Order: sequence, then structure tokens, then C-alpha cells
Amino acid sequence: MNYIKEVSIIKGKVKLINYLPDIGINKVREEIFTGLKAFPKHISPKFFYDESGSELFEAITKLDEYYLTRTEKKILLTIAKDLNLDFSELNIIELGSGDSSKIRLLLRQIPENKLSTIKYYPVDISQSTIERAAYKLTDEFPMLKIEGIVADFIYQLNLIPKTEKSLFCFFGSTLGNLNMAEIEQFMKLLGKRMQEGDSFLLGLDMIKDTSVLEKAYNDARQITADFNKNILNVINNLVNTNFEPTDFEHLAFYNEGEKRIEMHLKARKDMVITFNSGADKIHIKKGETIHTENSHKFNKDNIKTMGFWAGLDTEKIFTDNKQWFSLVHYKKNR
Ligand code: AVJ
Repeated sequence: MNYIKEVSIIKGKVKLINYLPDIGINKVREEIFTGLKAFPKHISPKFFYDESGSELFEAITKLDEYYLTRTEKKILLTIAKDLNLDFSELNIIELGSGDSSKIRLLLRQIPENKLSTIKYYPVDISQSTIERAAYKLTDEFPMLKIEGIVADFIYQLNLIPKTEKSLFCFFGSTLGNLNMAEIEQFMKLLGKRMQEGDSFLLGLDMIKDTSVLEKAYNDARQITADFNKNILNVINNLVNTNFEPTDFEHLAFYNEGEKRIEMHLKARKDMVITFNSGADKIHIKKGETIHTENSHKFNKDNIKTMGFWAGLDTEKIFTDNKQWFSLVHYKKNR
């Protein structure tokens, strides 16, 4: 995350634009304080991903219990031929691109003469993550044109370039971090952004046995717990609070009514958190929780409804044999 200085870096074929300064650190501070003063308290899950948060998340994706990434990658491995896409001159825009390890699987299935005509736009909130991912990607695909976009794509979807012939990708079920009203708003915006003939490839975690879901967010090695607590380090760095992450307990459970995993941080004792260099305080009571993440789970009806919101047709749903994860290919036909 870099809200302070505007950066435009051009190195070889990789170009990078940072739009976060447009939001501004003050707006970010305000968003954080509003959440911390609310009842119940909450912090947006986008703040998980500083350097160590991104590393912890990558460790999560390798855990036995966390089936999501592994399952999605397996589906992606052979998807290209069944997308029925003309890859030449294609603009691939990936929202929440992270380490770009998923798009890599798709790019490997595209012949080299077409690859050189493709432009890839990784969009992520973490500049260092995009930089690292983009340079790594050029090792394997030196012919690929890359333009990294550092942005909060929920607020800044309109800044993503309007290009001809686009494939939008949003993997990892990260859309599930939003609530249904926000998902509706997002889908409508994206649908407007897309042009006739464009495709949208959306990764979604499906509703399944509660115990499987809950294990995925309560791993034996407690990496998810560390990931959850690390959000307090990120907040400390962004707004100078004095949270002590070990004073909180990791909570993750499936909310059956809302069809989502919820993550919270539960205070182990009473505490006073100062910010604005001590000028302002918030009191947290022992047992009080801070809501840090929702991770919605989906079914086929949701998939159809979301397409309807965006004005997109469901071209095909790719899934695994247990139907735990889906990659939905939406298409804008009119
Ligand atoms: C990257 C948002 C999809 O919700 O499963 C992993 C993040 N949180 N373990 C998810 C996460 C806890 C992940 N997403």
C-alpha cells in the first residue's frame, strides 16, 4: 500500500501506475477510524495485504485445509481451449492480481505468436506485490506487455483503462469479501465498463459442508490466525495506533444465514487504543470483537443473478469434481 507518493515506473516492458494517492491517506485514515469507532468495530479486509500480509496469505494458499487456491488452479490449468476466445490483441485485466500465479497458468496455454499481441493489466492494492509479480512474469513471458495498476478497484473501477477486446479476470473468490449489496454495485459497474464481446472470468468459492469451510479458516498451524492479527500491524503503520496483535484472539466461523465465513479479532483484555498522536482514544472491552473479513460462499442461483445484475450471459461454469469451486465465464453479448 502506498498512499503517499504517486509513482510511475517504466522498466523494460513493465509500466506501473499508482492511483492510490487519488484516494489519499486522509480518506484512508477516516475510513479506518470510522470502522474502529463503530459498533461492532470493523476493519476492511483490503488492509490485510501489506508485505507480511501478502506473504502470510501465500502461506495460507499452501495449507492442506485451504482448498480454494489449489482447486481453482487445477481448473485453470486446462481452461483455455474451452473458453473459445480469440487471444490475439486481447487485453487481460486481472483484478486483485496478487502474485499473478493464476494468470500464469492461463498464459501458458496460449501460443507464443499470440502471447506477443496480448497486454496484461494486473490491478492490485499493493504496489510491491504488482512489481514483484510483473518482473517474475516477464522471466517466463518476455514478449508479454504489462501495465500494472495500483488501485482500490472497488472504489476505482472507473480508472481501469477502457480497452477494446478485453478479458476481465477476478480470481480467488475475492468478490466474496463484499456483501451482496456491494457485489450488486460492483457487477453493475463492471458490466457497464465491458464492451460487446468482452468476457469476464470470475472465481467463486461454493457453499459446502460447514466443517470443510470452517477448517479452511482455522488451520492447525494458525497461519490464518497470524494473517488475521497482522491486519493490526498494518493499521498501526497506516494510522499510528498502538494495537498489540497478541492481545487478540482469532475467530473464524460460518454464518449459515448469510452464507459466509466471518473473521473477527476478539480482545483478550480491556484496552485503550490511541491515535492521532495520542489526541484521540478508543476503548475496547475484554471480549469485544473487531470484524475483519466476510468471505461469502455461492451457489448456481447466485451466479445467474450476478450475471443478470451486470447484463452478462453465463457462457460456461467450470468446476472441480466435488463442485467446491467455480470459474464462471460470463460474456457481454449485447
Ligand atoms: C483472498 C479474500 C479470497 O476469503 O478466502 C484467506 C482471504 N482470509 N483466509 C478468502 C483469506 C482468510 C481469502 N480471499
